[in-house]
Amino acid sequence: MNKKTVRDVDVDGKRVFLRADLNVPLEDGHVTDDARIRASLPTIVYLLERGARVILASHLGRPRGKVNDALRLKPVADRLSELLGRPVRITGDALGPGVQVAISRLRAGDLLMLENLRFHAAEEANDGDFARALAGMADLYVDDAFGSAHRAHASTEGITHHLPSVAGLLLEREVDALSRLLGSPRQPFHTVVGGAKVSGKLEVIEALLDRCRAILVGGGMANTFLAARGVPLGKSLVEADQLENARRIMSLAEEKTVTFLLPTDAVVAPQIHHRAKAQVVPITEVPRDQMVVDIGPATVAAYAKRLGKAKTVFWNGPMGVFEMSQFAAGTNAIARFLADRARHGATVVVGGGDSVAAVDRLGLTDLLTHVSTGGGASLEFVEGRQLPGVAALDDRDGTSA
Ligand code: 3PG
Repeated sequence: MNKKTVRDVDVDGKRVFLRADLNVPLEDGHVTDDARIRASLPTIVYLLERGARVILASHLGRPRGKVNDALRLKPVADRLSELLGRPVRITGDALGPGVQVAISRLRAGDLLMLENLRFHAAEEANDGDFARALAGMADLYVDDAFGSAHRAHASTEGITHHLPSVAGLLLEREVDALSRLLGSPRQPFHTVVGGAKVSGKLEVIEALLDRCRAILVGGGMANTFLAARGVPLGKSLVEADQLENARRIMSLAEEKTVTFLLPTDAVVAPQIHHRAKAQVVPITEVPRDQMVVDIGPATVAAYAKRLGKAKTVFWNGPMGVFEMSQFAAGTNAIARFLADRARHGATVVVGGGDSVAAVDRLGLTDLLTHVSTGGGASLEFVEGRQLPGVAALDDRDGTSA
């Protein structure tokens, strides 16, 4: 990465505004997946050990500029405190006189967490005054929020206009790992793409057609491609307004001689329910009163055969309704197979919340080359787009972006 990182600057005694992406799922006031918190630890510990006075900031959810008690960062601070083995104090607001006082009391190696930045509409609006006020708290800005790097918000972009701005260790690792999929990835490079919808992923699929030898499609989005080919799919979710786009992508793939694989069989059920009776059918025989909930075993076998030859794989999106164990076989099989490929030397990068949750649940994260903490950010990066949160950081040659 040609951006400066925390390793390039002296942080001893400095007030450091550390933007992390601690936007994690909560249930009943508890963090249900702490992967993003754990991924943020190396930079937090790095700064604390070197005597920085750390002001840790993040957003949580989408409160749309209003205080929302269900989206306070306290559960995140509690989990972070458990992981760090020390108390983590949190302010009542991201800004204001109380925050100033708390910051003025920080000593070297202390940590203070700010309340949810998005309680202020000015954060997402990238308001200049708000960005200046955030910058005024610190001597240095460290951006470790890769998951938010596709957002040009006050705490990810605006603030960089007022402070020396460098990358944290997670952001650096993400950019380096995902960059392997751009430029000249080791061939054959195959992509596995799934998830409920085609919309939102068209651009990345289109961009990958220039770099991949094969695209293997699963999940609800495969239905839209199948429907575009005239396959009747019973009650399955199909995005009727995306059929034309699906056809365009498939003819582009043909033009570029990229293999475009769709499921040949599926697990179907009358409804998405944990007690629903499921069965496997050829994809051309989905009963009228049933819906596709997973890829079938023949599809798993065909995808595994194809992926067995890959030297580079990017995986985004589950193959079915994997949250319910009886519909998770396809997603789990792909996850296990890819972990095995990585063990045998293939570069396997997983991006996007749901596929990341799937590999995490199976305990496979450490076996894969890289599991991104970014959802939208990893997709936009792989698409080849410049991420504002990365572009705004100081370049290695000393210039400020
Ligand atoms: C994410 O979860 O993808 C990031 O935290 C960004 O969240 P947002 O989509 O609400 O901006």
